[in-house]
Amino acid sequence: MRLPAEPASSEITDPQLYLRRREFLSRTALAGAVALAPALACAEEAEPGRPLEGVKPGPYGTDEKRTPFEDAASYNNFYEFGTDKSDPARHAHRLQTSPWDVEIAGEVAKPGKVGIEDLLRPHPLEERVYRLRCVEAWSMVIPWIGIPLGNVLKRFEPTSNAKYVAFQTLYDPDQMPGQRRAVLDWPYVEGLRIDEAMHPLTILAVGMYGQVMPNQNGAPLRLVVPWKYGFKSIKSIVRIELTRTQPPTSWNVSAPREYGFYSNVNPAVDHPRWSQKRERRIGEFRRRETLPFNGYAEQVASLYQGMDLRANF
Ligand code: MTE
Repeated sequence: MRLPAEPASSEITDPQLYLRRREFLSRTALAGAVALAPALACAEEAEPGRPLEGVKPGPYGTDEKRTPFEDAASYNNFYEFGTDKSDPARHAHRLQTSPWDVEIAGEVAKPGKVGIEDLLRPHPLEERVYRLRCVEAWSMVIPWIGIPLGNVLKRFEPTSNAKYVAFQTLYDPDQMPGQRRAVLDWPYVEGLRIDEAMHPLTILAVGMYGQVMPNQNGAPLRLVVPWKYGFKSIKSIVRIELTRTQPPTSWNVSAPREYGFYSNVNPAVDHPRWSQKRERRIGEFRRRETLPFNGYAEQVASLYQGMDLRANF
């Protein structure tokens, strides 16, 4: 993301800039490895880096070339650990991810909690290779491991009043030093309409590349909504509330002209400060045409039938 206060800048198209970023990535990959090292040494169940057993390939995946793990784990947006792309890999090891409970509240017949250990149990875990398309016009292809969000929500029996789902990240400035700066209203919050949340493409991801989720990617669990811009994929979730009304979302609150509630990948609607028509896959020079709904139109376009997607951006 680019902070609204920042001066407008063009897309990341300059090859020189790109090369400098590659250099930077190879340096920060090392930093990322260092950040993971203590976790690998520790045998706790939910430790980042631990291989996840019994994961089966899920439906809907793409067979496009995967982004190297090193890139996906070192070029991150996670403002709780700083606003530079390299900050999360350097600082997120501070986050204690086990034990970890997620509270499920609001319009459900059976409010309660689900623990990360429960979500990590192998039987329901699926690997789904989904694209992540950032609003800043870069994209990655990542083998996420998770469980459909709808399956988790059903355990708590949503009522007929549940029209939206609100998500909240942990608020703990001791562990998340970025929260000491008012770059966003903390805690980070996100929201989906109930049909988007229950759609089988939407997953709660607990790992990637065969491993427990690295902290910088949102451990111990984060949302992945592959047809929306990456900022909808809220990380390190502690609370999920089913609501009657549309909940606030961090980027919409911060810059309502730039980031709408829906945030569907839409090449036909420009961001006020840059075009959304094309994107650069991390690791490639050539820019690609951005596909409507990030290439998942066949599965999800019907959810928005009759809606003006320019007004509801
Ligand atoms: N979740 C929280 N809690 N804080 C954040 O700053 N950044 C978002 C999203 N989820 C963010 C977040 C943005 S802008 C993007 S592009 C994705 O996380 C990046 O996910 P990745 O680092 O795994 O690629």
